[in-house]
Amino acid sequence: MTPELLGFQITHRAMRGDVRRLADLATELVEGRQSADPARATAIAGFVTALCKGIHHHHTMEDQVLWPVIERAAGAEVDLRDLSDDHSELDPLLAEINGQAAAFATSRDASTLVAPLTRLADMLDEHIEEEERLLFPIIRKYVSVADWKRVEDAVRKGGDVRVDLPRIEQYARPEELARLRKLAGPVLALLLSLLRGGHRRRQRLIFGPLAAA
Ligand SMILES: [Fe+2]
Repeated sequence: MTPELLGFQITHRAMRGDVRRLADLATELVEGRQSADPARATAIAGFVTALCKGIHHHHTMEDQVLWPVIERAAGAEVDLRDLSDDHSELDPLLAEINGQAAAFATSRDASTLVAPLTRLADMLDEHIEEEERLLFPIIRKYVSVADWKRVEDAVRKGGDVRVDLPRIEQYARPEELARLRKLAGPVLALLLSLLRGGHRRRQRLIFGPLAAA
């Protein structure tokens, strides 16, 4: 038995996808191709804040739980310094975006959100590609299923199920979702059915009626 990395992989995909969509949306708002009334601005700011919180939590759990697991299992085979440096660079950027999102909720001027959101999207693309390329084979080879479960539980516990779970469904390909449903059992299907409607409503408010959710 090897650790099942699918949930992590889709979480990474959702982070990258949503930050890029928000960077593009901010650009369109600034260019006047879209507009935001107060309700939409509040929803956008809320999603930006929730996403930043989720990204911070995810990489904090990598630092505090996953890295020690990998170091213990793989020892000298892996050097985590570059990935840790990326995590330290992310934090001030996430804080900046949070501040700009709060300002946007009242000003509805997205001009100060474009650059930091685009930078975050670029950083995440690079960081996550590197992380998966470097660490996924190491995790599969050296980390026990029990240790991997501990990592996944830690990530899940501090997350926001209302934000995280429907985005897994949104970003998983059909065959991946089928695999996750099989692994997680009926609880996943029940939670998804409870959370799906609210998520889709918020996504339509944020990204417009054609939002892929
Ligand atoms: Fe990371």
